[in-house]
Amino acid sequence: MEKLIIIDFGSQYTHLICRRIRELKVKAEIVPWYNADVVLSRDVKGVILSGGPMSVYDENAPKINEDLIQELRINHIPVLGICYGHQLLAHLLGGKVSRGEKKEYGPAELEIISYGRLLRGLNSVEKVWMSHGDRVEILPEGFTVLAKTVNCPIAAYESVDGLIFGVQFHPEVKHTPHGLNILKNFLDICGFKYEWNLEDIISNIIWRIREKVGENRVLMAASGGVDSTTAAFLIHKAIGDRLHLVFMNTGLLREGEDEWVLGMLKSLGFKNIHYVNASKRFLTALRGVSDPEEKRKIFSKIYAEVLEETATELEKQYGEFKFLAQGTIYPDRVESGATSKAADKIKSHHNVIMPRLSKLEILEPLADFYKDEVREIARLLGIPKDVWGRHPFPGPGLLVRILGEITEEKLRIARRAHTIVEEEIKKSGLYDELWQIFPVILDSKAVGVKGDARSYEYIIAIRAVKSEDAMTAEFAKLPWELLERIANRLVNEIEGVGRVVYDITHKPPATIEYE
Ligand code: XMP
Repeated sequence: MEKLIIIDFGSQYTHLICRRIRELKVKAEIVPWYNADVVLSRDVKGVILSGGPMSVYDENAPKINEDLIQELRINHIPVLGICYGHQLLAHLLGGKVSRGEKKEYGPAELEIISYGRLLRGLNSVEKVWMSHGDRVEILPEGFTVLAKTVNCPIAAYESVDGLIFGVQFHPEVKHTPHGLNILKNFLDICGFKYEWNLEDIISNIIWRIREKVGENRVLMAASGGVDSTTAAFLIHKAIGDRLHLVFMNTGLLREGEDEWVLGMLKSLGFKNIHYVNASKRFLTALRGVSDPEEKRKIFSKIYAEVLEETATELEKQYGEFKFLAQGTIYPDRVESGATSKAADKIKSHHNVIMPRLSKLEILEPLADFYKDEVREIARLLGIPKDVWGRHPFPGPGLLVRILGEITEEKLRIARRAHTIVEEEIKKSGLYDELWQIFPVILDSKAVGVKGDARSYEYIIAIRAVKSEDAMTAEFAKLPWELLERIANRLVNEIEGVGRVVYDITHKPPATIEYE
């Protein structure tokens, strides 16, 4: 299928560009700058160079070869540079980029000098989002300037042959209200047929699973979350009851979660669901451990051991597994220009701890999709909304939401608190607007007065965030009345809770979870 490639130079917005292009119904994929050569493959019809944190003059600045651009030009593949990409194109093709004396970050007014094809349909003055230090000072030969801002005389350009474009600002962010029009104009220039549509893609995924798995058996750990449930549903559609699901109770689940997940999986038609209750094993191993990294390490080790043992038992009963399925989604997998690959970590950890399972072939039917696409796939498949609309819950569960040592008392508090927070947010009608909301049991206590006596009890922090993909997030400005109701209930209904605080930190710099 025809596609657009985004060459990533490490911008925090690269995934956003990719999602915007897909929203416009064009297949888009990200490659890191050092693998940029793949843009020369046959089905690529357009290329975007992302932004990035560096200057083209930095010693280790990520670059691509000028020849690559020329080759794309010869093949009539249009290229759009955004921010750093805009500067890099100008720099590589003989223009001049100057070191910005002052950084420009935030909204700016774009004044259009000439619409060209890229800015077609826009107003003569548009709001745009800027984030740069350097700027293009002189254009390469055969280029014309399309727009300027007060601080940036060349804020958009195009080459006379109509194949190379650059914008200094970020059309992909919502602070550029007509940014999507610019991206759409670029896709029109590339000549895309707008074929990316999830309904067709679903049958394709199922067909590919069937072809890959053949007559073999597949093992998968299910959590009840959107990703693993949707992946399992697709695999089940493809190969039926040769799919075996393992649902593990780690002792770090929420109230009633094991029954809910098991019931839900049954109702979706899965037959081979294997429930393993390993809570004692997890909680015993975690006793006395308070360091976050250590806690996570122990969790992963035991998780892997139990899964490995379960697989061995199941193989005795059902025969050999050839595939291990995972609910990995696109952001987990894509190696970006800036970060290392999470998948590598998973793989190495499989190899050490799961001698049997690490030999299995990995099956990841959702590895090309973003969370909102996975939710849409689930919806199209007829999976109920209480599954696809669920907030994510981390694999290690309450482990990352109980700070310090995990004790029976803190677990009791965390479980009750999760139920109360979920009840209240659902009642308020705001659940769907949030990426996540949850309580965190801090490892410290505060003084208070309960009845007539002095109390000294745990503090709960409420974390509620809005996000599109969890890579960045902003804290949700929830109504005071709702927060008040939550706080009252937590303090009044849970013994041992003395105080509730609201977390008002964005990501970055904070992460969403606490450990
Ligand atoms: P952070 O805390 O990194 O979280 O901002 C980003 C998103 O990932 C989830 N998360 C996890 N999910 N295993 C998971 O399956 C984990 O260890 C884990 N840690 C964080 C988190 O809930 C948020 O949605």
